[in-house]
Amino acid sequence: MNHVFEFSNISAYRGGTLVFDGLDLSISIGENTVILGPNGSGKTTLLKLISREIYPVHSDDSRMLVYGRDRWNVEELRSRLGIVSHDLLKHYGAHAFGRDVILSGYYSSIDTWPHQIFRAAEIEHAEELMRQLGVDELADRPFGRMSTGQQRRFLLGRALVHRPEALLLDEPTSGLDLSASFLYLDTARKLMQQGTQLILVTHHIHEIPPEITRVIFMRKGRVVADGDKEAMLTSSNVSALFGCSVELIERNGYSQAVPGNS
Ligand SMILES: Nc1ncnc2c1ncn2[C@@H]1O[C@H](COP(=O)(O)OP(=O)(O)O)[C@@H](O)[C@H]1O
Ligand SMILES: [Mg+2]
Repeated sequence: MNHVFEFSNISAYRGGTLVFDGLDLSISIGENTVILGPNGSGKTTLLKLISREIYPVHSDDSRMLVYGRDRWNVEELRSRLGIVSHDLLKHYGAHAFGRDVILSGYYSSIDTWPHQIFRAAEIEHAEELMRQLGVDELADRPFGRMSTGQQRRFLLGRALVHRPEALLLDEPTSGLDLSASFLYLDTARKLMQQGTQLILVTHHIHEIPPEITRVIFMRKGRVVADGDKEAMLTSSNVSALFGCSVELIERNGYSQAVPGNS
């Protein structure tokens, strides 16, 4: 067992749409990876399959293993794999206090509830995470009165309470201004440098940190290309993926896409 997840011949629907029709895809433990693809290619659906929010079509010759297992209780899984999706942001009530957003990660719940008991060490860890994420001053502020960037940092903290081995982030910086994006990316880089594996799903080229080594192109529910970042992130490859003329500019280990000439 050396994969975070291993999908073979997976088919899955969202509503009436067949998003994956026999998908094969695996990511090894320790491999910092981005799954890059245009809107609607199935990136968020992939995350929802892993987090068991949706289930694949049952078939005898398909397999979906997460950390080598096909059965997981959701709580157990979250302590190995922290998933930060955009749905969470929508689900959170405006009234939850910052500290409670982080603490709710221990129960994988939305907000905290009176019957939940938190040990002193858990509360201390939540406080420590807020300090690390630079949001400790917002601990007593209601979620609805925070900026999007601040909300995202709290949701990241919520995923980090279990000290997961890997983090799965869905378009982490979309909707954030430059300083909030850079702060978020800097946090992601520090986590990778400390040994947390990052798996990113996105269509934003500029949010791929330098530590990412593997790039998977996804389009219309299929993996269309897969390889080392240097080979994959070229103007012609990215133009083909998005179906438009793109020129990539590389600086400081990041790439930025601008419109191409043709
Ligand atoms: N709730 C839904 N009902 C029906 N179709 C959906 C639903 N959610 C997503 N889809 C469809 O599934 C496909 C993949 O969507 P998604 O995984 O969100 O793509 P991405 O995250 O790459 O933008 C798209 O064609 C989208 O229209
Ligand atoms: Mg998506």
